[in-house]
Amino acid sequence: MTRQLLLEHINVPGINTFEVYRRMGGYSAVEKAIKTMGPEGVLEEVKTSGLRGRGGAGFPTGMKWSFLAKPEGVPRYLVCNADESEPGTFKDRYLMTYIPHLLIEGMIVSSFALGAHTSYIYVRGEMMQQIRILEQAIAEAKANGFLGKNILGSGYDLEVYVHPGAGAYICGEETALLESLEGKRGNPRIKPPFPAVSGLYNCPTVVNNVETIAATVSIINDGGAEYAKIGIGRSTGTKLISAGGNLNKPGVYEIELGLPVEEFIYSDEYCGGIANGKQLKAVVAGGSSVPILPANLILKTIEGAPRLMSYESLAEGGFVSGTMLGSGGFIAFDEDQCIVRNTWNFTRFYHHESCGQCSPCREGTGWMEKVLFSIENGQGRSSDMDLLVNVAKNIEGNTICPLGDAAAWPVASAIRHFRDEFEWHVNNPVESQSRNYGLANY
Ligand code: NAI
Ligand code: SF4
Repeated sequence: MTRQLLLEHINVPGINTFEVYRRMGGYSAVEKAIKTMGPEGVLEEVKTSGLRGRGGAGFPTGMKWSFLAKPEGVPRYLVCNADESEPGTFKDRYLMTYIPHLLIEGMIVSSFALGAHTSYIYVRGEMMQQIRILEQAIAEAKANGFLGKNILGSGYDLEVYVHPGAGAYICGEETALLESLEGKRGNPRIKPPFPAVSGLYNCPTVVNNVETIAATVSIINDGGAEYAKIGIGRSTGTKLISAGGNLNKPGVYEIELGLPVEEFIYSDEYCGGIANGKQLKAVVAGGSSVPILPANLILKTIEGAPRLMSYESLAEGGFVSGTMLGSGGFIAFDEDQCIVRNTWNFTRFYHHESCGQCSPCREGTGWMEKVLFSIENGQGRSSDMDLLVNVAKNIEGNTICPLGDAAAWPVASAIRHFRDEFEWHVNNPVESQSRNYGLANY
């Protein structure tokens, strides 16, 4: 059983309250950080831990914190990205719902390290329940002297505010989030400058995911070196995975990075295998913004070694750089799933959520959606697959923010690995149409 750093107390009755959370050792990281370590000490431990951003990009957290500009007289901000919207991803919502004080404690420790006196938690607008839970947790922490003025008599002041989004996926992109937080339309900004230099109100800002911030609590309690012992290589620590799709036991799991993918899917400790005795066909391992891989490639690398749940192992053998662990939204497709239909569904989502600033994304997602729809609906042409690959290639790398890439990768990877399925739809228009219960009226 993986050591649970984040979810250890998740089943303790009342753990959502300050009283029970504190009784279970909660807020000791704040005491340790403020009373004995100081901001530099916290930063060093986070660097030592090797913690990487848990929102999807896997960027080293300590490095991001050390990039924070510190001009005299200019405020610095910590913004927690709780706009979790990546299809297949629901781990931050779980954490905020059941153990909200872990996030608040992490916010205090992280803000202290960064020298921020005002911090924000930007929560996806649909998550009204979590917004209320967090506001309650903040009020309790404040009433007990862990927030507000002169925290624990140290002279350090911090206010944490919860800010609801309005339901746009793009506001999870860090610069769109900052625009939205400033009260503007959530359009991504061109980077650089990165938020660490010019972020909220043009001030130095660190934007971190919910899970990343929560992970700092055990790093401070146990030390960065202890954290770094967990995991594999540069993928240190534990990771929350939201498992969904055709699995026997979908849900949120805290795994040690480096766990074999096969064990995660088939062992009873985790997902318990594919539902209804079916075979696994494909997996999207890190939310819909990463390529879709067939079963043989997700279970083993090209060289035949077991594929691991780590940033590095999931990137090997892919045709894109970067990680496929992404946000940890693990979606399993069984043998009955239509890859064309699922790819169309993802693309429809990206087209709807594109902010429209860049032509390749705005137009390309729309074209891909239309072409995929016609293939799925029995009206495709044999040249459509090459057309789709061409459009995807023209989007990738040519846009302001990663939404363009995220829209292109599932399409390109689906055609690369499941071309025969696309061809089946083109060659069997009548059967293809008849499978589409009501889709023709879409
Ligand atoms: P990114 O790789 O551009 O940046 C990662 C982080 O490092 C950012 O905070 C950025 O400001 C910082 N950074 C990078 N280089 C820097 C430098 N030279 N100086 C200072 N800071 C620097 O990736 P991004 O756009 O933050 O995230 C993309 C990922 O988000 C995708 O991989 C996707 O998996 C994930 N995602 C997650 C969602 C969710 O609901 N959790 C939703 C949509 C996407
Ligand atoms: Fe907007 Fe798409 Fe461009 Fe991102 S890539 S800025 S979502 S148009």
